[in-house]
Amino acid sequence: MDQVQLTRVCKAYGSQRVLDNVDFCANRGEFVVVIGRSGSGKSTLLNLIGGLDEPDSGSVAIGDTRLDRISEAERALFRRTRIGFVFQFFNLIPTLTVAENIELPLALNGLARPAIADRVGALLDELGIGESARRFPEELSGGEQQRVAIARAVAHEPDIVLADEPTGNLDLETAERVLHLLNETCRRRGATLLMATHGREVVGLADRVVTIRHGRIEAATW
Ligand SMILES: Nc1ncnc2c1ncn2[C@@H]1O[C@H](COP(=O)(O)OP(=O)(O)O)[C@@H](O)[C@H]1O
Ligand SMILES: [Mg+2]
Repeated sequence: MDQVQLTRVCKAYGSQRVLDNVDFCANRGEFVVVIGRSGSGKSTLLNLIGGLDEPDSGSVAIGDTRLDRISEAERALFRRTRIGFVFQFFNLIPTLTVAENIELPLALNGLARPAIADRVGALLDELGIGESARRFPEELSGGEQQRVAIARAVAHEPDIVLADEPTGNLDLETAERVLHLLNETCRRRGATLLMATHGREVVGLADRVVTIRHGRIEAATW
């Protein structure tokens, strides 16, 4: 069975149909890119997979978990343990240092202090931001902030990483480096990577590309 399986998913905001009978699946460890113009429904799709939102109809299954059938509290636990998020605007907490931003999800998951310190140290080194551990996000470049966000996204060893236009706020050269880092970081862990973008730069790295237009999956697969 596919690790991620959406079947006949519909989602509307008011009278606007944002996802229209969408079927989507992904295997464990796969890197799937979702390409579509602004407003086509990419974020809505990722948010349903990450349990940030619920469908109006249809099913959203992640492994054995039917996200459309569990409570909001259960979805919150699911997100905290199974999913890592990377966003366009990094979404780091400005009052916490780089290290503390990465520690936070681990502390929320009840990991012991020494284990947290070990894991954060290793992640900072892996992503090449060890020297910034005690700095605050605003003291870092956009590319560095996104590296911190990648470290935070994988720190709790999620099965699935959802990246919503992760390079949308970076210059081209930095974007390319961040894409490679995100790809390698997920591959090393066997984590599934689902990425929304409106550009085609990432296509070469992905296992599969899915195109979404007006809330419908148009074409897929190679
Ligand atoms: N919370 C919301 N309330 C109302 N409309 C929304 C909401 N989220 C998204 N939309 C609308 O749904 C459509 C698709 O949005 P979105 O999934 O964010 O597209 P994309 O990520 O591809 O740009 C857009 O027209 C957007 O305005
Ligand atoms: Mg979006």
